[in-house]
Amino acid sequence: MSETNSVRLSGPGGIEAELPVHDGTLGPRVMDVRRLYAQTGMFTYDPGFTSTASCRSGITYIDGDAGILLYRGYRIEELAEKSDFLETAYLILFGELPNGAQRLKFIHDITYHTMLHEQVQFLFRGFRRDAHPMALMIAVVGALSAFYHEDLDVEDPHHRMIATYRMIAKMPTIAAWAYKYSIGQPFVYPRNDLGYAENFIHMMFATPCEEYRVDPVLAKALDRIFILHADHEQNASTSTVRLVGSTGASPYAAIAAGIASLWGPAHGGANEAVVLMLDEIGTVDRIPEFLARAKDRNDPFRLMGFGHRVYKNYDPRAAVLKQSADQVLATLGQKHNPKLEIAKELEKIALEDEYFQERKLFPNVDFYSGIILEAMGIPTKMFTAIFALARTVGWMAQWNEMMLDPEQKIGRPRQLYVGPGERPFVPLEERP
Ligand code: ACO
Repeated sequence: MSETNSVRLSGPGGIEAELPVHDGTLGPRVMDVRRLYAQTGMFTYDPGFTSTASCRSGITYIDGDAGILLYRGYRIEELAEKSDFLETAYLILFGELPNGAQRLKFIHDITYHTMLHEQVQFLFRGFRRDAHPMALMIAVVGALSAFYHEDLDVEDPHHRMIATYRMIAKMPTIAAWAYKYSIGQPFVYPRNDLGYAENFIHMMFATPCEEYRVDPVLAKALDRIFILHADHEQNASTSTVRLVGSTGASPYAAIAAGIASLWGPAHGGANEAVVLMLDEIGTVDRIPEFLARAKDRNDPFRLMGFGHRVYKNYDPRAAVLKQSADQVLATLGQKHNPKLEIAKELEKIALEDEYFQERKLFPNVDFYSGIILEAMGIPTKMFTAIFALARTVGWMAQWNEMMLDPEQKIGRPRQLYVGPGERPFVPLEERP
């Protein structure tokens, strides 16, 4: 990053400021407002951080206008086609693709940390069977901070790496057990002879009663979904992880907060909401009715899986998934999947509609992922849990990056106060 020049600001009342401007490797230039308050006595106001860079990062880059997503400089489409999830995880964490030996060691180290402390299962057992898997994941991941508290020094890079490996390794076990618990089946322990996605599918669907063989096509499709969800710059859940981590809190607590943030329907919860919406639409002829509702300012309904804060073009992850949906469904013998047919028609009509064109609303990653997951037999309630599982890689990479950043400070935004001015206390008998 270089500091190329500065911006001079002048405002009413003779306010003057000279602020440095930074150039990243890609993307818009950034005005450094850190000295703004000292120079002018004013804050900036940016609810939702629409124009604010909260940190420097070298992990993921999005060109929202062109619809490009890069992990450490590599296009997402290329990684989805040529790489696999653990290799991509290595890339995201360490900045380079692994060589053969690094790759094998990384796979080994992740594989051999997949078991949960036996005591953890009692946390699951404290929940109602109908609890949402995301609620269980928040609780169980948060509880890991109690299991790994004494021996964790967040200032020590080696300790941070152990926490990173543990988190990535244990997430599939936690997610699969959340599902097993909801259906009243015994927990299935991880198996070290299986690949990452394969092992997750096995823990989801195997029972102790008989041999369960994981379909390699499904494992490959799920692995690809994991790659596409692995990181996405400073989104709400990643910013949550950074904010919590900035206080020096346990990374397990930070990831639990990230999972909570991801759960909302405006973020990762949208993949579940898309499938529920497609169910509600039911038939292609009802699409115009739902589009009219999405466009109606007086109706809170939004087209789920459409629109994005950063992408003002087709989300490249949605493009990969749309193609993947056709392949996976054909392999599963579901060439005529009614939900996929409604989704494609909905997309076609929406993209031709002036409302969506004017606002640059395109399908996002959640639009097609749920259809693929459902076709694979994964229950709707698990969709966001799977998103969380994959995003754990990005969360941990961003947390590690933050902890190494010499400019890192506790995250503490300012505010535009609009409450009452100072006033004297009113005794009870004098209150109206
Ligand atoms: N359906 C209908 N209208 C929409 C939609 C939508 N899905 N998304 C945005 N709009 C409209 C808004 O009503 C607004 O219109 P207006 O200018 O007339 O008021 C305009 O487009 C801009 O929308 P904002 O809400 O200001 O955009 P923002 O960047 O804050 O929100 C978000 C982005 C939250 C993703 C939004 O597009 C949305 O709610 N989409 C549906 C939920 C969804 O799919 N979320 C997943 C996002 S991807 C992810 O997190 C993994």
